[in-house]
Amino acid sequence: MTGQAQAIILGIETSCDETAAAIVVRDANGVGTILSNVVHTQLDEHAAFGGVVPELAARAHVSYLDHIIAQACREADVALADVDAIAATAGPGLIGGVLVGLTTAKALAAALDKPLLAINHLEAHALTARLTNGVAFPYLMLLVSGGHSQFVLVRGVGDYERWGTTIDDALGEAFDKVAKLLSLGSPGGPRVEAIAKQGDAKRFKFPRPLLREARLDFSFSGLKTAVRLQAEAIAPLSDQDVADIAASFQAAVGEIVAVRSRQALERFSAQFPGQTMRLVVAGGVAANRHIAARLEALCSDVRAELIVPPIALCTDNGAMVAWAGAERFMLGVRDGLDVTARPRWPLDLADMKVVPDAA
Ligand code: KG4
Ligand code: ZN
Repeated sequence: MTGQAQAIILGIETSCDETAAAIVVRDANGVGTILSNVVHTQLDEHAAFGGVVPELAARAHVSYLDHIIAQACREADVALADVDAIAATAGPGLIGGVLVGLTTAKALAAALDKPLLAINHLEAHALTARLTNGVAFPYLMLLVSGGHSQFVLVRGVGDYERWGTTIDDALGEAFDKVAKLLSLGSPGGPRVEAIAKQGDAKRFKFPRPLLREARLDFSFSGLKTAVRLQAEAIAPLSDQDVADIAASFQAAVGEIVAVRSRQALERFSAQFPGQTMRLVVAGGVAANRHIAARLEALCSDVRAELIVPPIALCTDNGAMVAWAGAERFMLGVRDGLDVTARPRWPLDLADMKVVPDAA
């Protein structure tokens, strides 16, 4: 331990299309409080392109980030000089954006003579439930966002084991692609969910790729192709056709997520007999009520605790980065100004491990 009673951390997130900064305080008992959490989602920049354009995202981060950080300090009523450390996402993500956030954090750390913490974005998602719900280790995380679909065993800060991932598209990406091929516009996930409410989920039986295999991996690309072929087969689509396809797609992914989560919880209980099973959900797809309801039913069936942080903290934000920074900072972790930004950075690499401060 560092002997600090508490830590006030600035967190910076720029790995995709959210420019975000937050101030979070962690007290000596490990309880976190969000003092500010400012997120600017770059909708206008990418709207015309039907997806995030990395170069445009990086440029937008450059123009917004200083203002977002200033606003985070103002709203928290904390001066930059009063933060204990500066944390920024150092990967994985769109490298141009990551570089903007990390380089800004380095400049602040150097100018203010504060410690720097280079945060793995996936770790930030993984630890958020400890900020919002004080969840104890170990627990299982299901991360389902536009860029990731993974099961991760969270044993401690820096101590992760990836149990499964997607072999092609991420779940949020599948929602976005289906929304696009049904001409629903963006943001794709919420549009598919909304239209699916009017649809018949039993009209089309879409495939559940990999579901018969024991591995905990996902595959959504074949499902997306099946949706496209079905849409083409009955084109032109009426509003009811679109709703039925959306509902049938959502039913397929709901079943895939529920079956896989059951298997992952079984593995958890085999590895930690007698432990409370805890499933933490993170990522933008956590907002989907159909998937959430499937997970609620599963967890009540197998007597697992289901933890879903408020949706604003499931999607990308600065508070999760500040909190991961706070957890690391309290364990004595400090990163050098030579730390590099990484487009890829799996959570279970040895370099995630926390080496406690000997002092
Ligand atoms: O975590 P997130 O905000 O950004 C990253 O990908 O990092 O997740 C965004 C993803 C998008 O693919 C979006 O379509 C999906 O989450 N999403 C949803 C819903 N809300 C957001 N997918 C299904 N149903 C929703 N209600
Ligand atoms: Zn994310």
